[in-house]
Amino acid sequence: MSRLTVRKAVIPAAGLGTRFLPATKASPKEMLPLVDKPLIQYTVEEAVASGIEDIIIITGRGKRAIEDHFDRSVELEENLKGSGKSQVLHQIRQISHLANFCYVRQSEALGLGHAVLCAQHLIGDEPFAVILGDEIIDAEVPALAQLISVYKKRQKAVLGVQDIPKQDVSRYGIVSPKYVSKGLHRVQDMVEKPSSADAPSTLAVIGRYILPPEIFPILRKTAPGKNGEIQLTDALKTLAKKSAMFAHEIKGQRHDAGDKLGFLIATVEFALKNPSLGADFKEYLLSRANTISTDRRK
Ligand code: UTP
Repeated sequence: MSRLTVRKAVIPAAGLGTRFLPATKASPKEMLPLVDKPLIQYTVEEAVASGIEDIIIITGRGKRAIEDHFDRSVELEENLKGSGKSQVLHQIRQISHLANFCYVRQSEALGLGHAVLCAQHLIGDEPFAVILGDEIIDAEVPALAQLISVYKKRQKAVLGVQDIPKQDVSRYGIVSPKYVSKGLHRVQDMVEKPSSADAPSTLAVIGRYILPPEIFPILRKTAPGKNGEIQLTDALKTLAKKSAMFAHEIKGQRHDAGDKLGFLIATVEFALKNPSLGADFKEYLLSRANTISTDRRK
């Protein structure tokens, strides 16, 4: 298999979603709807729009709804057909044709690094993408496609990063960058969730990666780090010492939809852009904003 092409993507979706409890107690965080589509569908559509053919979703207990979502729903299709709802029928059928789906169970949430390692036997000896489903990136050129085009030129690991406010660095993996060209850096090192005093930059890794298969033996040897989990960042730090690694500044609007406030903001932004809801929703928001500002003046 040519190392030039990135055909496969891993979507780790076995995390516990503790930031979104109690909603995520019995339902997967990845199935929370952003307007009318679950979060994970946005991720899958981004991957497909970036040229990915095979999607490997890492699931765990309580995540069956994800598999059902990307499968056919014969009864529902029959019902929609019978009631003449052809447009929605088409939409529903499209979902199961988006890509080739494969599921691997991670029996314990042992960390993002461990989740990626669970896909090794399905990836084999080729480069692959990793996309985190709770980071939704609204971009003209899909975020993953931006990374793939860097990979095509450089043939090395590429991480998606964005410049974030200094006070937020303690929530992200932060890279120590060496400038290459506008928006592109060599990764010299990485620090997971540093204090703002210790952060080597304000470039945060935001849930999009192109990785070579050499990451697997490194992950296998990576000892559990923070919270007893096998951290992808620890393996990436080792990889960056062995081989060149790049950080590409992704162009697009990113939403951390795995966080309650981030999810609410993403909902508002996507609802405003929605062709059938946007105008009415905007009118509602404007009238609501007026009452909020009147209340604040009281
Ligand atoms: P997060 O730590 O952001 O997600 O992991 P989480 O654990 O689901 O959520 P919180 O932080 O407790 O609210 C980043 C990604 O890695 C996946 C998660 O599903 C998420 O997409 N993950 C994490 C796994 O698949 N397995 C794990 O063991 C840990």
